This record gives sequence, structure tokens and C-alpha cells, in this order.
Amino acid sequence: MFRLIVALSVLSLALGLEDRIVNGKTASISEYPYQVSIQKYNSHFCGGSILKDDLILTAAHCLVDVIQKDEVDTITVRAGSSHWDEGGVVKNAEWISIHPNFRPQPMVYDVGLVKTIGSFVFSNLIKPIALTRVLPPLYEPVVVTGWGRLSESESNLPKTLQAVELEFLTPEKCRSPHFGYASAIMTSMICADGPYKDSCQGDSGGPLVEVDTNVQIGVVSWGLGCAKRGFPGIYCDLTDPNVVSYLRSKVPNLYNYEQ
Ligand code: ARG
Repeated sequence: MFRLIVALSVLSLALGLEDRIVNGKTASISEYPYQVSIQKYNSHFCGGSILKDDLILTAAHCLVDVIQKDEVDTITVRAGSSHWDEGGVVKNAEWISIHPNFRPQPMVYDVGLVKTIGSFVFSNLIKPIALTRVLPPLYEPVVVTGWGRLSESESNLPKTLQAVELEFLTPEKCRSPHFGYASAIMTSMICADGPYKDSCQGDSGGPLVEVDTNVQIGVVSWGLGCAKRGFPGIYCDLTDPNVVSYLRSKVPNLYNYEQ
């Protein structure tokens, strides 16, 4: 058995299939200027995306502990850098919020917001992202970015932003027997899949964006391991009516913030 595992690992390494943002490429913030790093005591713990000059969209599960422990003043947001640990502009959090119906089990309505003290100044490296109003068709190319693990087993985070292109899966497709999740795919969840490609721990809260239109459709939420065959990454659905009504209640002019 051990020899079989060794042989399979060597084979997958030789084929370049080792799971590593898993199997993405190093990216520049100028390509994804809406991406931010959310940090606690200056350590990256989740991704986010810029909705307005002082509002960051992220995952509720990133923020729930911070709210419970009343640690909002330990949270900062770094924008405008390809590196989570240096450069760009850092702002402190003023308040954070999570969807009122968020539950960690199952991971429904995994969406939240960070309001910064003061506004980011938009530039080539710092820009807001538009939210979609409709989900794309099945298999539409989507891209996810972040500073999360390069593989399920590698706990060190990359310093440089990673990006990986995936295919969008509708909730119906993601629930189908072709994949391993079945009824775990609940309301407010969408999926994205790629061969040995995925988001991973540390990418949570980051944006899933439709490539052709450059609009955000999801927020990195959860998955069984990372880049496991038959287990796509799961994202919070930004078109879910309850997600939209939450965001509308917190974000003025949700769909018309662009310049
Ligand atoms: N929950 C993870 C985080 O907090 C994200 C996991 C995404 N997993 C996946 N297989 N796509 O960073």
C-alpha cells in the first residue's frame, strides 16, 4: 500500500498534477485590482473584494469569531499590493457585519462586509468590482484569486497573489451525482471546478469573477479538502435574493458604484 501511494505521488508530481490557490499562476494586483487581504495582527487570514472605496466584501465565516470576541480593532485591510505582507495601502476596520442568517453548519449565507476607517483612493492597483445580477451559464470561465494555500497539505501561505481559472457549475449541476456533495449544496451556494485546480484555505472571502464580463458572482466559502476530484470549490451565491437583500441593506447603490 505504502509503495503504491509513493508510486502514485511520484507519478502525479511527474505529470505536474500536485494539488496546489491550487495549480494557479502568480498574478499581479494590476490584473485583479479589486482583491484585498484581510488581516488580524498583520497576518493574512482571508481575502476580500472592493465594493466601494470604504467597503470590502468577504465571507461571514471569516468574521464570525472576530465579532464574537469583539476584536474589530485588530482587523486591517491591505489593498493595492500583489503581496499580502508588504506594499499597497493598509486601513483599519471601522465595523464588520455578517449576514443575519449565516450558519456555519451548513455554511449558508456565507457573506459579510468590512467597513474601513477612511477610504481607499482608486488607482490602477485599487479598483472596485461590479456585482453580477444573474448567474452565468454552466461551464462559463471564472477566475478566483487569493493568497491561500498552494495545496491542501501546505500550510505556509504564498506571499504573491495567485489566480486560477475554473468553470462555473450551477447549483443543480454541483448537486448532481457527478460530484460528491449531493444535498450539502444548499441555497446560497454555487460551485466552480477545474482539473486539479481550486481555491483553498486562506482564499476564503475572496472573489469568484466571471472572466468575460469581469463581474463578481461568488465569494470563496468552503470545500472538501482542496482540488479533490469530484469535490469542486463552493462559493456564496451573490445572486441569491437573501444575499442581495442583505447587501442592499448595508451598501448604498449596490449596483451603481462604478465611476
Ligand atoms: N474555508 C476556506 C477558508 O477559510 C476556503 C476553502 C475553500 N476550499 C475549496 N476547496 N475551494 O479559507
